[in-house]
Amino acid sequence: MFRACAAATALLVGQCAAEILYAGVNSAGGEFGQQNLPGTFGVDYQFINESAIDFFLDAGVNTIRLPFLLERMCPLETGLGSTFNETYFSALEDAVNYITSKGAYAILDAHNYMRYNDPSSQPTSGSIIGNETDPKAATTTQLATFWSTLSTRFLTNPNIIYGLMNEPHTMPTQLVLTNTQAAITAIRAAGAQQLILVPGNGFTGAQSWLNTTCPTCAPNANVMGNLVDPERNFAFDMHLYFDNDTSGTHKECTRAAPGNLLPVTQWLREHNYTAFLSEFGAGDTPTCIQTLNDTITFLEDSGRFIGWTYWAAGPLWGDYFLSVEPGVGPQAETTWVDVLAVHVQRYVPMVRCGVSGNGRSGEGRVQSGLRTLEGCLGLRLPG
Ligand SMILES: *[C@@H]1O[C@H](CO)[C@@H](O)[C@H](O)[C@H]1NC(C)=O
Ligand SMILES: *[C@@H]1O[C@H](CO)[C@@H](O)[C@H](O)[C@H]1NC(C)=O
Ligand SMILES: *[C@@H]1O[C@H](CO)[C@@H](O)[C@H](O)[C@H]1NC(C)=O
Ligand SMILES: *[C@@H]1O[C@H](CO)[C@@H](O)[C@H](O)[C@H]1NC(C)=O
Ligand SMILES: *[C@@H]1O[C@H](CO)[C@@H](O)[C@H](O)[C@H]1NC(C)=O
Ligand SMILES: *[C@@H]1O[C@H](CO)[C@@H](O)[C@H](O)[C@H]1NC(C)=O
Ligand SMILES: *[C@@H]1O[C@H](CO)[C@@H](O)[C@H](O)[C@H]1NC(C)=O
Repeated sequence: MFRACAAATALLVGQCAAEILYAGVNSAGGEFGQQNLPGTFGVDYQFINESAIDFFLDAGVNTIRLPFLLERMCPLETGLGSTFNETYFSALEDAVNYITSKGAYAILDAHNYMRYNDPSSQPTSGSIIGNETDPKAATTTQLATFWSTLSTRFLTNPNIIYGLMNEPHTMPTQLVLTNTQAAITAIRAAGAQQLILVPGNGFTGAQSWLNTTCPTCAPNANVMGNLVDPERNFAFDMHLYFDNDTSGTHKECTRAAPGNLLPVTQWLREHNYTAFLSEFGAGDTPTCIQTLNDTITFLEDSGRFIGWTYWAAGPLWGDYFLSVEPGVGPQAETTWVDVLAVHVQRYVPMVRCGVSGNGRSGEGRVQSGLRTLEGCLGLRLPG
């Protein structure tokens, strides 16, 4: 269970504003092979290995984040919007159903950096969605239509979490707000009630939420608070890496934690928001192991972070240094065992099957006290 709350008396329970409701891993792979459109399932891309999902769910986690590529879901011929490639959609749906039929949560992660039309050199290629001076760019309305269509398809599955966009960057922060607001409005208009994860600019870096990350990039803290969710069921989606350029591409951890989370956590507290750390990862050096351990402990005690998913598991990584894929990834026998699994054990049993929520909204949402009462007995969505 959650550390701070586990020690609290009944009187103090109300002060445990948020706890770790969601924990797990990314299963990357659906977005792989970006140079190759549409690509071949099992070769260029693949969402999960079912036996790996079984491993993680048996270990107690309740959440898997599933990246997908917008250009595969919405082929360039028809553009971003309501026309899907049903082959690609089915592959994602199969992975989602595998996860959620076991009571766990699936995060649908549009892994597109707020860009669409050329993913070949992500994160920099492609037109910025909603850039009105770029005639090739998809519009904000098209993004909203896309999310309306996708959320309509998952309307009746309580165990879905909508990850609006992976790592927007190097664009006006106001446009990140405009685009994410349009997506939220569309999802709620479709009738979907589940949790929405909302990214910021600057690769949605938790460490720089209060910082200017490019000349036109006003701090997320100054802009993203203007969001309106009629269901009041969103959390800010954040990422965090510990190497020298916070990119997660170097084995050494040179950025101490959890000092990097203090400013954003204070901001969340001041504005009564919650957040979800949907990507973080580090090498398996002693410094990195300690940094990860300290980070997760900080999330648990923060009262503001409701979940985390490690970067990354996934069926196509091979020997990628951050991979925790069972039996394959270099961290399957190190970071997973020594750090992540130890923390997950403290949360067991994790909530399964309630409508995904941010731990702060009204009735019918996931709340710690209800986890055993309601759990898989099934809160049902309309439709
Ligand atoms: C849809 O995706 C499948 C699988 O990747 C691919 O074979 C097919 O060509 C795609 N269709 C379109 C219209 O892009
Ligand atoms: C899934 O993982 C199992 C064992 O970990 C392995 O034997 C199998 O080849 C994998 N399948 C795919 C499709 O990656
Ligand atoms: C928007 O598109 C225009 C025209 O292609 C381009 O010059 C500009 O840099 C784009 N805006 C951003 C923020 O990239
Ligand atoms: C963000 O800004 C603060 C205050 O100027 C600074 O101390 C900190 O190093 C900056 N963080 C990043 C990640 O740039
Ligand atoms: C980060 O460290 C790598 C070596 O691991 C080095 O090549 C690179 O220049 C460093 N980057 C920065 C921004 O310090
Ligand atoms: C993680 O931190 C806890 C204390 O918060 C400590 O007991 C544990 O040994 C640490 N784990 C590792 C792998 O360092
Ligand atoms: C914070 O949000 C929660 C849940 O939405 C609400 O119950 C509470 O009154 C809010 N607190 C403040 C100080 O606004």
